[in-house]
Amino acid sequence: MEFYDVINKRKTTRQFLDKTVDFEIIKRILEAGNKAPTWDHNRNWQFIVLRTDKEKEYAFEYAKSIADKFGAEKYLNFPRPYPITLGQKMYGYAVPKQYTMLKEAPYVIIPLFKAKELNGEYVSKLNPFATIWCVIENIFLAAIAEGLSCSMRIPLNNEHDIVKAKLKVPPSYMIPVFIGVGYADPKEPNLEQYKPDVNKQIRFGRWK
Ligand SMILES: Cc1cc2nc3c(=O)[nH]c(=O)nc-3n(C[C@H](O)[C@H](O)[C@H](O)COP(=O)(O)O)c2cc1C
Repeated sequence: MEFYDVINKRKTTRQFLDKTVDFEIIKRILEAGNKAPTWDHNRNWQFIVLRTDKEKEYAFEYAKSIADKFGAEKYLNFPRPYPITLGQKMYGYAVPKQYTMLKEAPYVIIPLFKAKELNGEYVSKLNPFATIWCVIENIFLAAIAEGLSCSMRIPLNNEHDIVKAKLKVPPSYMIPVFIGVGYADPKEPNLEQYKPDVNKQIRFGRWK
C-alpha cells in the first residue's frame, strides 16, 4: 500500500470481523515496531501477545468493569450549556467498547518498555515512554498496510499495575497500551473527527 494511503487509512477500530489473522502477519507488524527510533540504542522492548478468550477475559476484567458501568445514553444526552463536542461524542461511543474491542480482536499485543516508573520532571526523562510510542505507531501503520486495523486502550490509573501483576510483567517494565489487532468491521460507524488546518499550525521562527 502506498505510504500516504496507509497514513490516511489509519483509524482506531473498535469493532472487528470474526476472521482469523495469520500469526506471520502479526510478526511482520511487530518487526515494523522494532524499526522504530530508540532513545538508548537498545530496543529492549518486549511484546506480550494474547490469543485466547480466556487470556483476554483474565487480562481485561478492569476494562470490562469500566465499560459495563458506563451509561452512554445518559452521558451523551446530559444537558450541557454548550453543544456536545466531537471529543465527547467519541468518548460516549468508545467507553462502552473498551472491553469488546480487545476481547473480539483475534490478537492483543501488549508492548512493554523498560522503566520502573515514569518521571516527567523533564521532557527528556520521558524518553523510554516516547520511544515505545514510536514503536506503537509503527505497529498501527504496519497493521493498516497488512489490511488489518487496531484498537487501543491505555490502562487507566491503577489498571496498569493490576494487569502488570496478572501478566507477571517484571517490575522493570511498564505497559503503555493494549492493542487489539484484527480485520476491521466495515459496518463500524465512522465518527466525525476534527481536522486541523496545517496552515494555521505552522509558526515560522517563533510563536509570534
Ligand atoms: C494517547 C492516546 C490514548 C488513547 N486512549 C484510548 C483509550 O483508552 N481507549 C480508546 O478507545 N481509544 C483511545 N485512544 C484513541 C483515540 O480515541 C483516537 O485516536 C481518536 O479518537 C482519533 O481517532 P483515530 O485514531 O481514529 O484517528 C487514544 C489515543 C491516544 C493517542
